[in-house]
Amino acid sequence: MNTKPSGISERNLRKPPFFSGGARELVRAPHRFFLQLTRDYGDVVQYRATPEPAFLFNHPDFVKHILVSNGRIYNKDTHLNKYMLQAVTGQGLLTSENPLWRKQRRLMQPFFHRRYLARFADLMATATHETLDIIESYAAQKRPFDMANEMMTLTLNIVSRTLFGYDMESHSERIGQAVNTLIEIAKPKRKRFQETLKVLDEIVFDVIQRRRQRPHAEQHDLLDMLIQARYEDSGEGMSDQQIRDEVMSLLIAGHETTANTLGWLWYLLAQQPAVVSQIEDELEVVLNGRSPTVADFPKLTYCDKVIKEAMRLYPSAWSISRRALVDDQIGGYEIPKGSIVAVSPYTLHRHPTFWPEPETFNPERFTPEQEAARHRYAYIPFGAGARKCIGDQFALMESIIILPMTLQRFRLKLVPDHSIEEHALVTLRARHGILMTAASR
Ligand code: HEM
Repeated sequence: MNTKPSGISERNLRKPPFFSGGARELVRAPHRFFLQLTRDYGDVVQYRATPEPAFLFNHPDFVKHILVSNGRIYNKDTHLNKYMLQAVTGQGLLTSENPLWRKQRRLMQPFFHRRYLARFADLMATATHETLDIIESYAAQKRPFDMANEMMTLTLNIVSRTLFGYDMESHSERIGQAVNTLIEIAKPKRKRFQETLKVLDEIVFDVIQRRRQRPHAEQHDLLDMLIQARYEDSGEGMSDQQIRDEVMSLLIAGHETTANTLGWLWYLLAQQPAVVSQIEDELEVVLNGRSPTVADFPKLTYCDKVIKEAMRLYPSAWSISRRALVDDQIGGYEIPKGSIVAVSPYTLHRHPTFWPEPETFNPERFTPEQEAARHRYAYIPFGAGARKCIGDQFALMESIIILPMTLQRFRLKLVPDHSIEEHALVTLRARHGILMTAASR
């Protein structure tokens, strides 16, 4: 099978095809607009979005070029980063650039290793129980509820307790509400956005201050770890401002992304009774009614495949973009300095060369054999290269706890006639939520 990008010419530098229309589609449903572009033009196309040239690249070789091999000549100086995310996350991991970014990533990476994260598994299970108790009350009343919303609350609870677990009860609820308000407004210039951010800052700085005054070097949560971490070269710790920016980055990057993934997972599973019954069989064998613990994760192999396949069809981070710092050429195409280059997990995960029958939900695409045979950069729900998601193991751990625990307690159905519409903002959401009914087992 030929898996080379379409329209490639190594010898002569060329300009990619240019599509000048689509302004309305780009605003209304940019992910579908991108998908249509790849269907009409192939693996590379220039489109009109910003004053500077913008290109969509839709081949794993190109992903490798932009995010991995030549990642250093592309940065995150994009509209999304500059005008939306940075207003909240400042110079945190998500939006900072070298050399600060590298220094911070090095310092924080150890806290996100699977072995380290294991300490949060119980906390994740407890938060899940609480959400399931709420769903239980809907089930008892036979009342429909918005599963997307429940997942939002749950993942926010998890990430804020992981960060602030120690003095959580007094703060995490207020923090949670403020983060939700910021995400809802999503317009940094609005007065309410700025007021909310101010409240959030006051809480976070206050917690940091009080933690610094504690006599013991105990490590109860991620915040303790951030406060106690020391840079290798200087032996110093982070400033309050840097800790604040990292806390905000983790709250923003770690909450909605995971919630959407789980929301879409429930949407897909409600249409896949055979898959659900195979999961149930696995849960019976591995867990026999217990809640999952860290030791069970490697045995829940079918659950793992199901989660991966859900992230293929509905990658929460549906688009990843960069700015070219110098003139570059990708696959024989000219990319002028200053251009915006986008790769879209949503379109890439539907590339027919790598994903036969791309719209079909099929967890068997993720058997170890199939994974090994596929191009490494054909599947990038967490991005790729140096700036790949630091929280990927965190998100997978949440999912492999929440999926089994929920199915152990409930049978879930979609509410008929409720329209499920994909809504691509910063992340890929369901515009009108995911209305479901639950029946206790
Ligand atoms: C299913 C859930 C998640 C998805 C789909 C996701 C996706 C991504 C993607 C695609 C990137 C790279 C963006 C780019 O290259 O421009 C990223 C970066 C990042 N993510 Fe996640 N993420 C998820 C969960 C989390 C969680 C749970 C956390 C933290 C607790 C987190 C923290 C971060 C941070 C800090 C970055 C920036 C990393 C850096 O630039 O060094 N993410 N995420």
